[in-house]
Amino acid sequence: MKVTIVGAGNVGATCADVMAYRGIASEIVLLDIREGFAEGKALDITQCATNTGFNTKVTGVTNDYAKTAGSNVVVITSGIPRKPGMTREELIGINAGIVKSVAENLLKHSPEAIFVIVSNPMDTMTYLAYKSLGLPKNRIIGMGGALDSSRFRTYLSLALDKPANDISAMVIGGHGDTTMIPLTRLASYNGIPVSQFLSQEQLDKVAADTMVGGATLTALLGTSAWYAPGASVAYLVDSILNDQKKMIACSVYLEGEYGQNDICVGVPCIIGKNGVEEIIDIQLNEAEKALFSKSSDAVRSMNDALSGILG
Ligand code: NAI
Ligand code: 2OP
Repeated sequence: MKVTIVGAGNVGATCADVMAYRGIASEIVLLDIREGFAEGKALDITQCATNTGFNTKVTGVTNDYAKTAGSNVVVITSGIPRKPGMTREELIGINAGIVKSVAENLLKHSPEAIFVIVSNPMDTMTYLAYKSLGLPKNRIIGMGGALDSSRFRTYLSLALDKPANDISAMVIGGHGDTTMIPLTRLASYNGIPVSQFLSQEQLDKVAADTMVGGATLTALLGTSAWYAPGASVAYLVDSILNDQKKMIACSVYLEGEYGQNDICVGVPCIIGKNGVEEIIDIQLNEAEKALFSKSSDAVRSMNDALSGILG
């Protein structure tokens, strides 16, 4: 199985590294616009093979889409970070131009591929990919919920002082500090509601820490995170390529689910060989429904900045 990752920067290269190490794909192509950069990252990852024991073929190319031909999954991480003085709309405009042209080039060479969108603002970029490519909605998946959920489980594990893999919890809604919704009510420690172990005050702090999870790392690192984002993309791609049918919160195009239409936003999905195989419409309580509606409004207003590019 072949995977192309566009953007050989922090997230793209980490994703390639995790996928190679775990043998998720037989072939990975890293593509970047920066001359020689993807080639260098691919060679460095390849030189891990004998020490970590993988056989995945990893190659890097500079903007040569012919080399991406026949990919089963394509991952888009290309874009620029927000710079001082730049408005969010300006950032959206620049990244939208990049994501649209990258997605169109990928589709020309891999007409059957499933698209995974990572570039920020991710929900808006996923909507752009859906609207501009004309593909069925099961083939356009925004990655954000997998990362936010892993951060939520991490903070719950720290508060409980128990292993994160014993904790089940999910974050839905938009992939943003104020739009994501950690579903604390449904979180459990081996099936037991976490509210049996943590006070409301502790649970509120876990949710708040989760929501600023990305910003906390950006402040510490001076740029946004890459280990957990790269691993989260690999987790999602694994579920597609190996038809694992995992339930993963993903940003997908909604047509009535959760009371929303014409928007891509994070909801629980079954992810398998066909991409989004099912959207799980869970029963939210009134407070959660209100948060989901507010989150969708915020994502929708960000999508308005696409009017120039979508026509
Ligand atoms: P980075 O700056 O390290 O890498 C971005 C790469 O994209 C660079 O190597 C750049 O040369 C390349 N690029 C730019 N324009 C291109 C084009 N037209 N064609 C091919 N390559 C191009 O950034 P990083 O940290 O890897 O983040 C990438 C994106 O992912 C950002 O938009 C970031 O905000 C987003 N992100 C999203 C997350 C999520 O959960 N959805 C989590 C973490 C990051
Ligand atoms: C993150 O959540 C910035 O989307 C990026 O780390």
